[in-house]
Amino acid sequence: MLVGLNTESVTRVSIIVGTKGRGSNMVALAQHITADPGFVIHRVIGTKADAPAIEKAKELGFKTAIVPLGESFEKDLAAALDETNWICLAGFLRLLPESIVNRWDHRILNIHPALLPKFGGKGMYGHFVHDAVIAAGETESGCSVHYVTKEYDEGAIIRQERCPVLPNDTAETLADRVLILEHRAYFAALKEVAHRSRS
Ligand code: GAR
Repeated sequence: MLVGLNTESVTRVSIIVGTKGRGSNMVALAQHITADPGFVIHRVIGTKADAPAIEKAKELGFKTAIVPLGESFEKDLAAALDETNWICLAGFLRLLPESIVNRWDHRILNIHPALLPKFGGKGMYGHFVHDAVIAAGETESGCSVHYVTKEYDEGAIIRQERCPVLPNDTAETLADRVLILEHRAYFAALKEVAHRSRS
């Protein structure tokens, strides 16, 4: 088992994807990782083989693992993650088993499409987040990359990027603007904390 501080020069990253998203953060992150000689994609992991993010990962030639939700989820996820140094959640909307959070303590990141600590928590994903931002009359939104803990969206924030909320925004137009930020913020945050942990 290799967690965190690796003696090798390459940092292995696994991405855990959800069933609902398009997989755009997985693709953007994987492209950044592939272009950086210091990082490699270890596995893209999902709970369903027909999830768009898993299908995209296969098309891009990444190793995938399907770990269905069920009794042996915790054990099978740990096996799929073995030898992973860092874990990135990309559209995975559940809490991870406690044993995984403990074993990869401060080695698991998530991206959220709002400026945490506002507009986070259980059930806050996708258009629910952007609807809430608009309903609250916010003039600014953005994305947050944060550490994953045993609670939803509560880990320390590593990086935030901001954009305006425009008067005529819908959840869709705001989501599109935030997504552009997400695609560059995630790898920048990963790189920053991975380098910090090496030094
Ligand atoms: C992204 O906007 C991500 O920030 C969000 O799900 C979307 C997945 O899209 N995650 C959350 O809301 C977590 N609470 P993608 O599949 O295109 O990357």
